[in-house]
Amino acid sequence: MSTLPRRAPFITFEGGEGAGKTTQTRLLANRLTAAGIACLLTREPGGAPFAEEIRALLLRTDLPPRSAMAEALLFLAARADHVAETIMPALDAGKWVISDRFADSTFAYQGAAGGVPPAMLTELHRLVLGDFRPDLTLILDLPPEIGLARAGARLQGVHTTDGFESRALAYHEALRQGFRAIAANDPERCVLIDASGSTDDVAAQIWAVIETRYRVRWADGP
Ligand code: TYD
Repeated sequence: MSTLPRRAPFITFEGGEGAGKTTQTRLLANRLTAAGIACLLTREPGGAPFAEEIRALLLRTDLPPRSAMAEALLFLAARADHVAETIMPALDAGKWVISDRFADSTFAYQGAAGGVPPAMLTELHRLVLGDFRPDLTLILDLPPEIGLARAGARLQGVHTTDGFESRALAYHEALRQGFRAIAANDPERCVLIDASGSTDDVAAQIWAVIETRYRVRWADGP
């Protein structure tokens, strides 16, 4: 058995709208830092200068309709840049990398909910990123009615919502099932987290996974 050099873990957070990914990625990064672990927090779409330009294009609401395949290719273009410019250099420098969304979002949004066949997305991923994948993916799962209500509350007063959040409930249900299927098909990499509880409750579930997998102890933790 060959021993590969052990590099720092690449951890991704996934889930539908209003699942609390952004809050939870920040909490985890803070906790790791408190445990003396160097980590980089990043996000998709975006996470590198050119990828952020593609993000701005993808989140515009004033553009003509586009196919789910066209979207998938743009998300993948942004991902190629994000991996090359941000994720790999940080992992090479020994930092843990935590990303708010990554490749599973393409499988759930453009695949399960958008209709692009998963085999095509798998092939595209392989062509662009080879076998690069997260070491651990935390999928924040909750009923779409709850997630959309939370996301709606967050956006109140902003007078705008991006095109992804404003889609019909059935779309968000397909999305949830897509994420759940990803978790079921890849149980070694993915852990399904019940995101319906409080922020503290969800953070505790996540920390329990991190402690078990990586034997990390938080100095002031429970
Ligand atoms: P963002 O404002 O970052 O939303 P969130 O807080 O939910 O992550 O917008 C990103 C949107 O892009 C989000 O609705 C999910 C969508 N998305 C895809 O459709 N495919 C992808 O591959 C990725 C990474 C994101």
